Amino acid sequence: MLSSDVPTYTIRVEHDGAHHTFSARADQTVLSAAAAAGVPLPSSCCSGVCTTCAARLLRGNVHQPDAMGVKAELRDAGYALLCVAFPRSDLEVLAGQEDALYEAQFGQYQK
Ligand code: FES
Repeated sequence: MLSSDVPTYTIRVEHDGAHHTFSARADQTVLSAAAAAGVPLPSSCCSGVCTTCAARLLRGNVHQPDAMGVKAELRDAGYALLCVAFPRSDLEVLAGQEDALYEAQFGQYQK
């Protein structure tokens, strides 16, 4: 497939109260598309493990088979790891959700 045949989506991200809009191809992670657009988002391992890049999808779908750091039911609830998330539609994303994801995954064990 020619790269021009790859669908491109519009990504809107809210992070620390700032709003950013950029494009991402279907074969590009949301995090790498953000970096290419000059949008700084949290990241560390860039391989789906550490959850530093955790985000919540407010609208849209991603393909994230390598998101090992997120339980399946939380992925279904909209959590995504942007370093391994490939867009499958236009997205609205709330970034900077590492603490919220941690609480959702492990909070019940700490009470
Ligand atoms: S940067 Fe580590 S899971 Fe995304």
